[in-house]
Amino acid sequence: MVFAKECWVLISIITVAWLLWCKKQNKIKKKSGVPKGNLGWPFIGETLDFIACGYTSQPVSFMDKRKSLYGKVFKTHILGTPIIVSTDAEVNKVVLQNHGNIFVSAYPKSIRDLLGEFSILQMNGNLQKKMHAQIGGFLRSPQLKARITKDIENSVKLTLATWKDMNIIYVQDEIKKITFEVLVKILMSNVPGEDLCFLKREFEEFIKGLICLPIKLPGTRLYKSLKAKKKLIKIVKRIVEERKLAMEKSDEKGVAKDVVDVLLNEKQYLPSDVISGNIIEMMIPGEETVPTAMTLAVKFLSDSPVALKQLTEENMELKRQRTESCEEFSWTDYMSLPFTQNVISETLRMANIINGVWRKALKDVEIKGHLIPEGWCVLASFISVHMDEENYENPYHFDPWRWEKTGAAAVNNNNFTPFGGGQRLCPGLELSRLEISIFLHRLVTTYGWIAEKDDIIYFPTVKMKKNLPITVTPIRT
Ligand code: HEM
Repeated sequence: MVFAKECWVLISIITVAWLLWCKKQNKIKKKSGVPKGNLGWPFIGETLDFIACGYTSQPVSFMDKRKSLYGKVFKTHILGTPIIVSTDAEVNKVVLQNHGNIFVSAYPKSIRDLLGEFSILQMNGNLQKKMHAQIGGFLRSPQLKARITKDIENSVKLTLATWKDMNIIYVQDEIKKITFEVLVKILMSNVPGEDLCFLKREFEEFIKGLICLPIKLPGTRLYKSLKAKKKLIKIVKRIVEERKLAMEKSDEKGVAKDVVDVLLNEKQYLPSDVISGNIIEMMIPGEETVPTAMTLAVKFLSDSPVALKQLTEENMELKRQRTESCEEFSWTDYMSLPFTQNVISETLRMANIINGVWRKALKDVEIKGHLIPEGWCVLASFISVHMDEENYENPYHFDPWRWEKTGAAAVNNNNFTPFGGGQRLCPGLELSRLEISIFLHRLVTTYGWIAEKDDIIYFPTVKMKKNLPITVTPIRT
């Protein structure tokens, strides 16, 4: 009897949920101009198909299927959110350019919970603008690039030197050793060795939860990642407070030598917790985006011997010139190698490390005839634009030469947005390109390599299935 009663309660709950969901669907359908699409099953929407496509070599097939049914802008329901997806470069541009007044950031719940409300990625309004300008100004400054070039070179050299004694090198893991250390230096200057190891270990635990089920119960992924964040905050906060004390004692602000200084110098007082949270957030590119870009460059070059040959020749020539003139390399040397920059652009286009950005509409807005109702989320899908044959001939082919045809201006056009755009354009854009250029220079002028077969997976984040195993042979010059 009790069991039968519980069954009825459950059936009633499901029926009410189903009716509410149908009502919501009808309400949405009634608004004219709302993009067509399917919200899928109650609660899970079309998430299963979205994830399944992420595990194939063509993650964009999720978007392509719906694009062919409903057009370039459609609605769906993924990762717990009903959402309008734009695969149209012009619509994406309007979304990116209208940050703050019409759209605000709206990342999935696990990201929101882990980064916290004062994260720069989630912040809106004047404080975000100011922090973006300060951090961007520092990261783009020629002084930082000149200084950090030496650090990047040293870190790359040290790591590459260990490769000659290794039977198999797992590129993805090895590169993280370089990029994490370099980024921590940019953020907090010299962190003692044991603190660096601790930060790296806890950060690996923290980052695993960025895209996961948003359930905070003991044992869940999000819970473990939040626990790691607490430990990270403790250590970063100690560094921030020591620095603050030293600044107060010397009673002068001076030139910022790292991002902690930049945030402490900020006119609007920022509490140590907010600074520490943002410093941790800015470690993400050191563990994820930059090493992924470098790893995928090695992968694409391994599969494209002609491109690798031209890249090696260009970099060998630079090395020869610097050896003859006995001059050190400057950051501009690396950034002005045209084919190397084309290899990097093509890698970023195909890698789609950040496949799109999530926003929420603050009011009803119409873009190219599509109505985005107030409160709806929008995913501006970069991957769809990067892999669309209307924009790139033969888009699945690694072709660095395509950038010679379109010219340098193409790097900033609407069809190429690996670093986002508008008010939130990635402030680490140039730094990332510099780091990748130095790594590629040192790699192709030091070793030849053979890569084992490995596949790229795109969910929850872009990475190599087997960490990209390679064997290297030193080049004799
Ligand atoms: C290949 C490497 C990288 C890629 C593909 C990348 C991509 C992106 C993208 C697409 C955004 C925009 C997010 C949005 O609009 O919601 C972004 C924002 C950001 N990136 Fe990067 N990034 C990279 C490296 C870096 C590096 C090295 C740093 C240095 C710390 C960095 C710091 C930031 C920050 C602070 C923001 C937030 C800006 C704001 O919201 O005002 N990124 N990045």
